[in-house]
Amino acid sequence: MKVILVSGGTSVLGAAICRHYIERGDRVLCAYHTNARGARHLADELGQDLVPVSLDVQSADSIEQAVTGIEHLDVLVNNSGIFSEAAIEDLTLSQWRRIFSVNVEGMFALSQACRALLRAASGAIVNIASINALHPGFGKTVHYDASKGAVVAFTQSLAAELAPEIRVNAVAPGLLSAPHLDTHHPLRRLYEERALLGTLVDPAEVAKAVAFVGECRAMTGQTVVVDGGYLAG
Ligand SMILES: NC(=O)c1ccc[n+]([C@@H]2O[C@H](COP(=O)([O-])OP(=O)(O)OC[C@H]3O[C@@H](n4cnc5c(N)ncnc54)[C@H](OP(=O)(O)O)[C@@H]3O)[C@@H](O)[C@H]2O)c1
Repeated sequence: MKVILVSGGTSVLGAAICRHYIERGDRVLCAYHTNARGARHLADELGQDLVPVSLDVQSADSIEQAVTGIEHLDVLVNNSGIFSEAAIEDLTLSQWRRIFSVNVEGMFALSQACRALLRAASGAIVNIASINALHPGFGKTVHYDASKGAVVAFTQSLAAELAPEIRVNAVAPGLLSAPHLDTHHPLRRLYEERALLGTLVDPAEVAKAVAFVGECRAMTGQTVVVDGGYLAG
């Protein structure tokens, strides 16, 4: 049984990752920021091997408190991430900083805090990027795209620094299927027309890729794209 810490564990993708690891028989520390209720529901559904943990990746105190309570850690999944849209002429420095604060600085701070635990376990870090890092230009998302580009570079650089004890990889999902993207949503139609597999990306499939890069001992510094063939379309 491995121990996995998933930040943003109640999000669309985070919950799928938690579910995948629990179904494999692992123990999951499901970190939530504001959604304590969602974490409790997930624990009710998935059982006692899912342990809710309070964690704000923007707060050094919160990170320290969360990590101090962990005795052993095999895999850190840096999944917390926020998204917003703003045209370049309207984008404010505070919007830019907020995205970078959660998506990049939060990832750095949590990875740094988990270093010793992961080194002791010869463990791994899996960072959640996005195809926006590799195919910018969906529009009005330069701050988000730049933050996810930083995740890819951070992944390569950290992998070089922490090798060979800790492996560091990223997974870059395409547009995830989620309840708010109903069949008539324009973004869904745009995505489905270009993606070779013709559908949005099932979070459960991304979770499989996360678990794979987390355990493959021959991989580090890589970003694996899980996009239903969007970039190739
Ligand atoms: N949705 C997509 O189509 C898509 C595509 C490509 C990549 N991604 C990436 O996949 C990851 C998950 O996306 P999602 O759509 O599943 O997320 P989501 O449903 O929008 O939820 C965002 C998550 O981030 C957490 N979070 C926000 N601020 C935080 C903070 N200060 N400290 C700790 N956690 C914080 C939230 O926690 P609480 O709810 O507890 O506050 C929540 O779990 C993100 O990194 C995202 O960029 C998503």
